[in-house]
Amino acid sequence: MGSQVLVTDELHEYMVAHGMPLDEIASDLVAETNALGGVSEMLTTPDQAGLLTTLTRLVGARRAVEIGTFTGFSALAISRGLPADGELICLDVSDEWTSIGRRYWERAGVADKIDLRIGDAHESAAKLEGEFDLAFVDAEKPGYTDYFEQLVPKIRPNGILLFDNTLAGGRVVGEHTGEDDPVDRKEFNAHIAADERVDVVILGIGDGLTLVRKR
Ligand SMILES: C[S@@+](CC[C@H](N)C(=O)[O-])C[C@H]1O[C@@H](n2cnc3c(N)ncnc32)[C@H](O)[C@@H]1O
Repeated sequence: MGSQVLVTDELHEYMVAHGMPLDEIASDLVAETNALGGVSEMLTTPDQAGLLTTLTRLVGARRAVEIGTFTGFSALAISRGLPADGELICLDVSDEWTSIGRRYWERAGVADKIDLRIGDAHESAAKLEGEFDLAFVDAEKPGYTDYFEQLVPKIRPNGILLFDNTLAGGRVVGEHTGEDDPVDRKEFNAHIAADERVDVVILGIGDGLTLVRKR
């Protein structure tokens, strides 16, 4: 087995500094979100944003769906990877947080590609029509298995699904009790690892980002 590098905060800063940079619009969005206080912990990380844009381009995505939009940072990243006539459907329950994102999507010139649907994403996902090339899931964690089951049939072969926070701060291993025990993530990770419709790779980026390829 090869060795695994430990990503310290300093090394992570180095990785971000040497990866796809955030432009002024994305940086302003991050700054406005950080000013919201504790909820800003929900933000997708800058290196994940670079990966989302890159993967969207790599799979040649034209239609994408995001579950869990918050202030629109990951949606900005995905939409920038889409062609001018591409479409990103964003599902979130919060009008308040997503309205921040709308301003930045306008500023970045990607608002026409984004169709934001407010409501419980389990219900909105059931209403999605047609085939998608890419899905990014970053909403409430106990919902992941349902989102996976709803989305896999809607993704085209060789399309991808991404699930954030799948390592739960590393707590998917070791002894943990009560709220510290990420039972939902452990069940989800085991569920998809055993699914023969997909190939699964867990990337140690951010809080764990699972990349799923539909066979
Ligand atoms: C971790 S944040 C998403 C972060 C975002 N991807 C970003 O780039 O910063 C989770 C989001 O999921 C939304 N959410 C939680 N449960 C939901 C549900 N059942 N249906 C729709 N959205 C939900 C929350 O409103 C919140 O905006």
